[in-house]
Amino acid sequence: MEHYIVNGGKRLEGSVTISGAKNAALAIIPAAILAGESCRIDNLPQIEDVRLFANILSGIGAKTEFVESGSLLIDPSTINTYDVTADMVSSFRASYYLLGALLGRYGRAKVALPGGCTIGARPIDLHIKGFRALGAKVCIEKGAVCVEGERLTGAEIYLDIASVGATINIMLAAVRAEGRTVIVNAAKEPYIVDLANFLNMMGASVKGAGTDTIKISGKKKLHGRNYSIIPDMMEAGTFMIAAAATGGDVVINNVIPTHLEAISAKLMEAGASVEEGDDGRDFYIRVKADKPLRSVNIKTLPYPGFPTDLQQPMTALLATARGTSIITETLFEDRFKHVSELCRMGADIRVRGQSAVIDGRQGLDGTRLYASDLRAGAALVVAALAASGKSDIYNIHYIDRGYERFEEKLRALGADIERVE
Ligand code: UD1
Repeated sequence: MEHYIVNGGKRLEGSVTISGAKNAALAIIPAAILAGESCRIDNLPQIEDVRLFANILSGIGAKTEFVESGSLLIDPSTINTYDVTADMVSSFRASYYLLGALLGRYGRAKVALPGGCTIGARPIDLHIKGFRALGAKVCIEKGAVCVEGERLTGAEIYLDIASVGATINIMLAAVRAEGRTVIVNAAKEPYIVDLANFLNMMGASVKGAGTDTIKISGKKKLHGRNYSIIPDMMEAGTFMIAAAATGGDVVINNVIPTHLEAISAKLMEAGASVEEGDDGRDFYIRVKADKPLRSVNIKTLPYPGFPTDLQQPMTALLATARGTSIITETLFEDRFKHVSELCRMGADIRVRGQSAVIDGRQGLDGTRLYASDLRAGAALVVAALAASGKSDIYNIHYIDRGYERFEEKLRALGADIERVE
């Protein structure tokens, strides 16, 4: 089993370039199914989740080919089954976007229920509510969701929670429905805007993405297009937090600073300096921490609030910040699994319901650590980089799902991190 060995205590210094956004990629790859011709998706992160999704599309008959690093050609015209079986999706959560995409394109789909990181119950009732509102029949049998609706019709759909997944899945189905769909209380995450841009390039009519009301006028045909996806705000945020946690000075290239405002604001409140810039080619953010950090309180919220995905790395940073911080997790009920691992490094953190109370300590000690999910893994790496001594981090397959060449990028910043068998 591969794991990381980290010798902590080194300041991160230098520059790092951010890869394409995982969550945008996982929405845009299935969207290619809606096209009549081949699509080419560029700036894809080279991560396990993208490889898995390309394999699933091949498994249902689409032609897929990685033409160069980070570029995937998808020809959906050869798709020959709408049945995505459990062995194809295994523990891959975003496979549920195949429901919306196959329903929109072919009027039917059967997709084994998703796995993915276990960070709470993560139901899909709102996705199902959306499909039903568009006129599809939905049933759950033998661990799979079946959707069927030869003629979908636009509808007004109110989402009880501004769910990213439900908003994307409904968009994928509604772009080919007859008439107008309005998604009310839609999620506003940048991935939704990126998906809308891709769909509109394909000939769809999606208006209002990035606000809480998305209006979609269904089109009979969508076309194959080339599209380059946005940079990953979670990867960028992780490097920002790692830079601050190690007292470092890092320039993070290829970012969209507005996507990172909540993280920048909290790092500045904690005492780090955050500077945005434009080098003429890319936007960048420089994070520098040359004095001890202080405690801050954080509440996770849908975009543009503080992202739940960065709550975990931020806990690692606050474990050594002066004073008491309170982190309140409002999106997922079980996203504090990293806390027990941080405590084994000497952190003083108590979880009370949906909040973690962190009493900052002067330093953490490296030890043997186990990641429980993707961002918990990132949190443990941040903690290990800032800690003194050696840490062995296991279950790094979770990290590989969402971070491209993570240890390589960290090493280039001066981290002592190695992947070993
Ligand atoms: C997506 C992201 C994930 C991020 C999360 C919140 C992808 C592949 N994953 O996950 O990285 O942490 O957004 O920003 O893009 N809910 C329901 N019913 C539903 C759907 C969701 O109750 O039908 C609840 C969830 O349990 C959760 C909340 O809504 O409490 C938000 O979930 P959602 O926005 O759907 O997250 P995901 O799309 O799963």
